Amino acid sequence: MAGAFITFEGIDGSGKSTQLRMLASVLRLGGFETVVTREPGGTPLGKRLRTALLDAQAEVDPLAELLLYAADRAQHVRTLLRPALETSHIVLSDRYADATVAYQGAGRGFTPELIAEVVELATGGLKPDLTLIFDVSVAECLMRTKRREANDQSKDRLDGEDVDFYARVRDRYLEIAAAEPERVRVVDASGSVEETHTKVIEIVLPFLEARGIVGQPSEQNAPPTGTQPQKTPVN
Ligand code: TYD
Repeated sequence: MAGAFITFEGIDGSGKSTQLRMLASVLRLGGFETVVTREPGGTPLGKRLRTALLDAQAEVDPLAELLLYAADRAQHVRTLLRPALETSHIVLSDRYADATVAYQGAGRGFTPELIAEVVELATGGLKPDLTLIFDVSVAECLMRTKRREANDQSKDRLDGEDVDFYARVRDRYLEIAAAEPERVRVVDASGSVEETHTKVIEIVLPFLEARGIVGQPSEQNAPPTGTQPQKTPVN
């Protein structure tokens, strides 16, 4: 496939969604055909699954949860990701299969064998070309999440998980990175939004260049002088 599939991962409150938006705006200004999507919820069916999965009032059985993320992913791969990659787009996805390995595997305790089977079934073997794992301490992430909840009253089901759960998820993400250094890069996300953004750019632009993917800047999408990437609050 001529496109590039880049996924953003990390525990809740790591700031990955903010970084994804900032990278997308830089790529678009540079004339790269960029698609932004997420899991769960990248498709119309996925949006409905997302609402069900993240409902703070709902009790979702762990096996049902695993299969719902897989259903969301199967729909995402077949109706959005593959078509976009086949038409040479750069696809930025806020979470993908590594989230299942980390959250349902390490977090909920399903065996690596079962997780691998479910992931293979849902993805049909589609792997990201590059994965950025935004790494921050669990304490910092919990603080950021609490601040967000206080600001916009938003709370989803997983916001209720405890420190141990997130510590297991974070450790599994770091294990994934250690096992697949070619695909996965860990980004220290403990600094400011701008500092992390610089780190992302330093990884992604050389990666695209190495794959021979170049932007097509036009006058229309050239940034006015002095314009900075849009600042958005930490996710
Ligand atoms: P996310 O979209 O990152 O949440 P937000 O935008 O509110 O920060 O992810 C939603 C939640 O779904 C997150 O807590 C992790 C969870 N999740 C899994 O447990 N397994 C998965 O396979 C995926 C894709 C997400």
